[in-house]
Amino acid sequence: MKKPILLSATVLCAFAAQAMLDDDEALSAAREALSRLTLREKTMLLAGSGTMTLAPVPGAATDREWTMSDSSSTVRASLERWGWSYVEPQEENTKLPSLSALAQTWDVEWARKHGEVLGAECRDRGVDQLLGPGVNIMRTPLCGRNWEYLGEDPVLAAKLCVPFIKGVQSYDVAATVKHFCLNNQELARGSVDTHVDDRTLNEIYLPAFRAAVKEAGVLAIMTSYNKIDGVWASENKYTQKGILRDRWGFKGFVVTDWGGQHTTAFAAMNGGGVEMHRGDRIRRIYNPKTGACPLAEAVERGEVPVSTVDEMALRTLFAMAKTGFLTGAKRKRGERNTPEHQRIAREEGAESIVLLKNDRGLLPLDAKAMKKVLVVGMLADEKQCRKGGSAEGNTPYEVTLFAALTNRLPHAEVKLMPFCAKTVHAETDATNATEAGAHVEMKTEEAYCSEDELHAAAMAADTLVVFTGTELGVQENMESEGRDRVEFDLPSQLQKAMHTILDWRHPRTIVISRSGTPVGYTWTDKADALLKTSYLGMEEGNAICDVLFGDVNPCGKLAQTWPRRYEDTAVAQCGTYNATNITYNERFYVGYRWHDKSGIVPLFPFGHGLGYTTFNMELEGIDGGRGGEPFTLRVAVENTGSRRGKEVVQVYAAYPDAKVERCAKELKAFAKVDLAPGETKTAKLSISLRDLAYWDEFNHSFRTDAGEYEVLIGASSADIRCKARVKVDDTRFFAD
Ligand code: GLC
Repeated sequence: MKKPILLSATVLCAFAAQAMLDDDEALSAAREALSRLTLREKTMLLAGSGTMTLAPVPGAATDREWTMSDSSSTVRASLERWGWSYVEPQEENTKLPSLSALAQTWDVEWARKHGEVLGAECRDRGVDQLLGPGVNIMRTPLCGRNWEYLGEDPVLAAKLCVPFIKGVQSYDVAATVKHFCLNNQELARGSVDTHVDDRTLNEIYLPAFRAAVKEAGVLAIMTSYNKIDGVWASENKYTQKGILRDRWGFKGFVVTDWGGQHTTAFAAMNGGGVEMHRGDRIRRIYNPKTGACPLAEAVERGEVPVSTVDEMALRTLFAMAKTGFLTGAKRKRGERNTPEHQRIAREEGAESIVLLKNDRGLLPLDAKAMKKVLVVGMLADEKQCRKGGSAEGNTPYEVTLFAALTNRLPHAEVKLMPFCAKTVHAETDATNATEAGAHVEMKTEEAYCSEDELHAAAMAADTLVVFTGTELGVQENMESEGRDRVEFDLPSQLQKAMHTILDWRHPRTIVISRSGTPVGYTWTDKADALLKTSYLGMEEGNAICDVLFGDVNPCGKLAQTWPRRYEDTAVAQCGTYNATNITYNERFYVGYRWHDKSGIVPLFPFGHGLGYTTFNMELEGIDGGRGGEPFTLRVAVENTGSRRGKEVVQVYAAYPDAKVERCAKELKAFAKVDLAPGETKTAKLSISLRDLAYWDEFNHSFRTDAGEYEVLIGASSADIRCKARVKVDDTRFFAD
């Protein structure tokens, strides 16, 4: 063991205070640490020592390995050093709602709490780096990992990922924003070559990553598996050096996705960072025992200057210094599976639920009036927490909807039956499973019952709860890492069964649709009460019941436009989507931007969500805007109903004076307001001139032209309540 790093007194006293040092102190500590390492010791900072570890740093305050763990909604149980199997007994951690659920809260406070829970649970587990948040924009509803990401809009994703990352890092744990970049499908994710124009890249697919770096100070970035314009993301000079380092000043380190590195010297010379892979694979590449060390050998052959290895290793050491791992500075204590974490999982989940329809005011339900309840759909009692590839979790418990209803209605008979639909999943052999250890269900046939049986049971019940949607898994209509769904619609037999059940016109039929991505439905016009939830983790059943029975007034808003048909989507109409070479021909017309341009009315619009009360919104006034200062909108929101509730004020910008092609409107700001019945509050929302900018491809910078802009204030992208014009005096360019 080398002598510990002797640090200058000034630096030491700083460390004693807190772990999350300021950048200069951390850089100073990193530089001192680096100066004492040999070339091979430096390269050990740049390649996994196991599936989820980096080798101990000689001279650091600890001789422990730097430890990583997935992912965006839980801390995954420990993996074996050389593979994807779990160390037994597996640790248990809280499983929070998925990020597609968090996105539906439109609430920066929940994003912060979500990150803090994960940071605390990492610390309790001795995990130094969390491999999340995933922020890839939803380009196609078929992507198998939309459930793990923050929706279709760059502003919503950017504004939610910042507090998430700050929450994680407030516990002296490095967050890892992923997958950088243009990883918007799982189909052939390891080989597909993606092409996008610079404006679309900068206006749609980069903003969340940019916010993670420039506003949240994220300490790590995971590159994606795909190619970008023919060059692997893990060795793409434009994205890794041109954007990350030169434009954004990223100080942390880049880590490849597992197995996502393809070269050594070329990657190192083009902004590469830490190479990760399944332990046994990385051991064959970097093996202290055999001395195999491609990066050091590349240096010794003169292909890579030592200075480049120093720059790469310094980034890893910087993150280690920032978290206190390197210097032994006191790090925040963690905890896991606490009642507080479980409360957060339940309440965040409940506030993520979107009430799409509530005709005849069927909701909320009155538990006392319910004596015989029929729940239709076996997924209502199928646990999901242990599914989802690298996002899977091992939880202390999981409350399904059926279990929660049964607990909630001890006086009633609550019965579960399958759909009257014989749904057969194609066999999926194990080779289709992703390397991330995704479980591969070999399920081939859903349970089903006859229509008469189901009809008789439904007519005998006073309440019918129909649970539909997708499930996590690697088969054709499931959602998970490593594969896309093969079709937008639910299997036709399920669609038919939904029509059959809804045609019975049972007077109290509640439909709950769970999915992390929009799913093709042909029956929604027949549903009076329709709730949309994403995967809510271990408190899912309780969260849904809290909304069903009115303990929580639903306030979720769609973070993804819900198209009527796959053919209505931008990718289906003008983008390319395949397993080899894709071009984002739809450009920045993603989601609602596309529906505004094409005039195709979606089934449910971006930002839509009802509640058990109603709200008024009025623009009180707009301040600022002179001499380049931001515009501050004052919006009066009134609860005009009889229940306390929360509303999300959404502000979009439109460009009547635009001299270049621009979308009809784009989300720029949002705020959630909590109001008692009859109460009015003023929400203040800020829009900077930079917020109004577009990417000027000729000047290679963001630009806001002088002229008139329109601000649209509403409760969804299709429910604009008031608007106003603002004037920008001078055209401005922005460094970034
Ligand atoms: C997977 C995933 C990534 C995950 C990593 C480690 O391939 O793409 O999101 O963090 O491997 O499990």
